[in-house]
Amino acid sequence: MFSIRIKLVFVITLITVSSFVTVVVSNLQIIRADKEKALSNSNFQVSELVTRSVETQMTEYRRGLEYITKTFVSNPNLAIDPSYFPDYVWVAILDWSGQVVYEWNQKTKLEDAGLDVEKLLGKKNQDSLFQEVKQVLSLRDGWLLFNSTVKPVFPTFLFASAVKPPGAERPSHVILAEIDAAPLFKQIHPRRGQDLILIDSHQNVIFSTEDSWDPAEIAFKDEKAIEIIRGLDRGRQAQISISYPHRESQLSWFQKFKDGEGITLVLQEPVSALTAGSEKIQFQSLIVGLIVLVIAVNLIVLIAGRLTKPIQDLTTLMQKVGKGEFSARIKVKSKDEIGKLATFFNKMLQELDDREKEIERAKSKLIQSEKMSAFGQMSAGIAHEVKNPLAGILGYAQIVKKKLEDRPELLSHIEIIEKETLRCKEIVENLMRFARQEKAQFLRIDVNKAVRDSVRLVEHQISVSGIKMVQNYALEGVGIFIKGNTNQLQQVMLNLMLNAQHAMESKGTMTVSTHYDEKSSRVMVVVSDTGCGMSAEVQARIFEPFYTTKGVGKGTGLGLSVSIGIVKDHRGSIEVESLPGKGSSFTISVPLDDDPLGKAEVAASAKSGAA
Ligand SMILES: Nc1ncnc2c1ncn2[C@@H]1O[C@H](COP(=O)(O)OP(=O)(O)O)[C@@H](O)[C@H]1O
Ligand SMILES: [Mg+2]
Repeated sequence: MFSIRIKLVFVITLITVSSFVTVVVSNLQIIRADKEKALSNSNFQVSELVTRSVETQMTEYRRGLEYITKTFVSNPNLAIDPSYFPDYVWVAILDWSGQVVYEWNQKTKLEDAGLDVEKLLGKKNQDSLFQEVKQVLSLRDGWLLFNSTVKPVFPTFLFASAVKPPGAERPSHVILAEIDAAPLFKQIHPRRGQDLILIDSHQNVIFSTEDSWDPAEIAFKDEKAIEIIRGLDRGRQAQISISYPHRESQLSWFQKFKDGEGITLVLQEPVSALTAGSEKIQFQSLIVGLIVLVIAVNLIVLIAGRLTKPIQDLTTLMQKVGKGEFSARIKVKSKDEIGKLATFFNKMLQELDDREKEIERAKSKLIQSEKMSAFGQMSAGIAHEVKNPLAGILGYAQIVKKKLEDRPELLSHIEIIEKETLRCKEIVENLMRFARQEKAQFLRIDVNKAVRDSVRLVEHQISVSGIKMVQNYALEGVGIFIKGNTNQLQQVMLNLMLNAQHAMESKGTMTVSTHYDEKSSRVMVVVSDTGCGMSAEVQARIFEPFYTTKGVGKGTGLGLSVSIGIVKDHRGSIEVESLPGKGSSFTISVPLDDDPLGKAEVAASAKSGAA
């Protein structure tokens, strides 16, 4: 249904597009995997850095509080100088039994925030906090951190730690401190596109860089993240991808603090960060792909055209041939399969053409011979009618001639009558021979002998006219035997030799030769001359009776037509080759007798000679 060209274009386009898509997709996958690795590494580093800086800050606070414990437990009446500890809002030191041994608050900060010390969450939940801290920190060294922001929003966190006297086994005091969160927040800087969330010991949010974060809203609602945080040991890291129902999926990194009890830093980056930039690559690939495709399609169309053009040409040619135009040929441009096909096709056409011409020739020959046979019958009729009256005329002319011997003035007239009548008689006899009215006797004869005898008849006359005579006999001395009539064959030879003489006038060479062909079982007699030759038009008509190019009274135009009749009687043929101005060559070909070389004769004569 589709042409080969369209099929080729389709298949190659498909291959180009699919291989291009495969390359682009696999490239994008490699890029994504690479990016994921790089992102993972860098984000783990970021979380570690931030964690460390927060921890350093906390250690700082802890040292300050330890100092305060050392200094102020023994002097509970002294007040802390806020200029040394600007971030502290409220500090309480309790002994291991839960008794408050020291308490202090920074009035100016509380006033600035419009708060009363009683409102602070640390102060409010002092007892329960003490219990929790005592329980947790009796087992291991460290600190706790809780979001303790109160309304109106004053972001603070509660820092809780236990203090061990030097050399003691167990801690002696618990410190609870409300600290201004602003300096801590300054420690936390996310990269663009990322968010950092600091989770406290109760899995509440202390700080988040998310735009939507409300400092008054402390609950961390990300269940999946909480699950990971719970399962993570101190100082360990984790990374997972979390999908959310109402926001983009996030890649999350978790970093659990080493010292802070249950404190975690969460780093989030949207999954799209992995594919960011790949749109550009995709777009560029698309453009490159399109360009490649356009070039490829053009090339394919060109190549497919080149491939299918010869086939189209062949098709057109086939159509012509179908209409009988055998002379058309296809141009062979390539040596490939199509080129070979074209060559074979041309060969086939050549053969068809030759055969057609051969048929045409045979047809015209047939027409010619039919024409001749019709003419033969007609002329046989005329000759038969004219033969007897001519005999009468000749007889009476000869009687009158005898009676006029003493009247020389009349004798010459009667002699002309006699001569012309004889000429007419000869023509009539020729005509009858042409029409094969005479039945000649066929005997076993030697072709060489018949030819040589004919040459002898004209040899003298020809050499006198200045023409060189050359003779060549095949198998001389052996003889080449056919079934035939010597007289008739000699008549043919005379006709051919006289024609050759006429064609040369008085110069040139006449060659008479015989050839023996064992393969085809035929003998050939060739009479050639170096005379005037014939044009193709003359050649086409020479076997027609009465066709002659010679002047009136010189030629009868019966020589060749009679000759061909005789040769045909011998089951033979006459072939002519002639070039105007160069000469002509007539070849008689006759089938051989059963014992063409006369071995029987040779044997017989040898026997008689011996006897
Ligand atoms: N050897 C030849 N060379 C040139 N033309 C020839 C030769 N033989 C025959 N012809 C041509 O063929 C014609 C017919 O020959 P033919 O039948 O013998 O008749 P005629 O010899 O009476 O003309 C000649 O008139 C001549 O034009
Ligand atoms: Mg002649």
